[in-house]
Amino acid sequence: MSDFTSPLWPWFIAITTVLSIGACAGLLWWVARKKIHALNDNTTGHIWDEDLVELNHPMPRWWMGLFVVTIVFAVGYLVLFPGLGAFAGLGRWSSVQQHTEEVQQAKADAAPVYARLAPLTHAQLAADPEAMAIAGRLFLNHCAQCHGSDARGSRGFPDLTDRDWLWGGDPEQIRHSITEGRNGVMPALAGALGSSQDVLRVADFVLSLSSRTAPPDLSDPVQAKFAVCAACHGANGGGNPQVGAPNLRDDIWLHGSGRDNIVSIINKGKNNAMPAQKDRLTPAQIQLLTAYVWRFSNSATRKP
Ligand code: HEC
Ligand code: HEC
Repeated sequence: MSDFTSPLWPWFIAITTVLSIGACAGLLWWVARKKIHALNDNTTGHIWDEDLVELNHPMPRWWMGLFVVTIVFAVGYLVLFPGLGAFAGLGRWSSVQQHTEEVQQAKADAAPVYARLAPLTHAQLAADPEAMAIAGRLFLNHCAQCHGSDARGSRGFPDLTDRDWLWGGDPEQIRHSITEGRNGVMPALAGALGSSQDVLRVADFVLSLSSRTAPPDLSDPVQAKFAVCAACHGANGGGNPQVGAPNLRDDIWLHGSGRDNIVSIINKGKNNAMPAQKDRLTPAQIQLLTAYVWRFSNSATRKP
């Protein structure tokens, strides 16, 4: 209850609640009492249309009983559980404590499973149905919002099943990507290339990379400009996992295919981040997820 900004509100809530319950009880008593009138014939004393009278029948007892039960329940509840402003209740129950206990219980339940899986290699984990079932649920909870429930990604979010890696697909590199996160930085380089025509020509050259086999010809003025890009993307555009620079030769496009997208990325650059998971997941969970991601590109059945 310490969440309130002013001490006024707990009192406001407590008083309103008590008054409401009191009002319900009062109303109940008021409608239930038998009204005695001068005529003493059990009518309310109203007469309409010359001789139409209204009998004074109290509510049936069982109905009254229900009201009494709800009032007694409300009082008991408010004594035991938090509900009356800042009063914590004699039962000392709190949702935070209940949550902590449930988490501890869940961890204790899962401990034997993780203990069994701990000594396994990534390949053994990838073949273990229980390990992959757990990893699949972890993936849905922590990764699917960006990489998709089928791990195939979308624009800006890499496909984890296509064997095309920004940062490398060995278990060690996958584990590093998950644990520490990744930040792919492509600087805006239009200035370094020259005019907007130069940018277009380099973009066309990048497009041609996916279908060409020959290495870049550095005597060609456009291809010579690619030296700026080669610093990260490699001399022949094959990418560099050290800096997360994508392979530009495989016709797989993280930020959309086509000349316009390439021109845009040269002009504006790109800063793309995968958040570190080490504070959200335990090393054991990351181990399972590493095997799960690794399996997509290293097993006969590549389906997630
Ligand atoms: C907030 C969005 C987001 C979440 C959540 C997220 N990722 Fe990522 N992930 C990214 C982005 C963006 C990249 C690409 C980073 C870059 O461009 O260098 C990436 C990259 C990766 C890579 C490297 C891919 C490569 O080609 O080298 C792996 C592996 C990965 N994520 C796995 C995971 C796993 C497993 C989880 C869940 C624990 C996860 N990610 C959660 C956004 C996310
Ligand atoms: C400082 C290193 C660096 C330099 C220099 C660099 N790039 Fe990049 N580039 C990157 C990185 C890192 C990414 C991936 C960004 C991300 O993670 O989303 C990238 C992404 C791209 C993409 C998007 C690829 C895709 O799959 O969608 C294109 C196209 C591209 N670069 C072209 C170029 C061109 C052309 C040049 C030269 C003018 C260049 N880059 C120079 C680091 C660099």
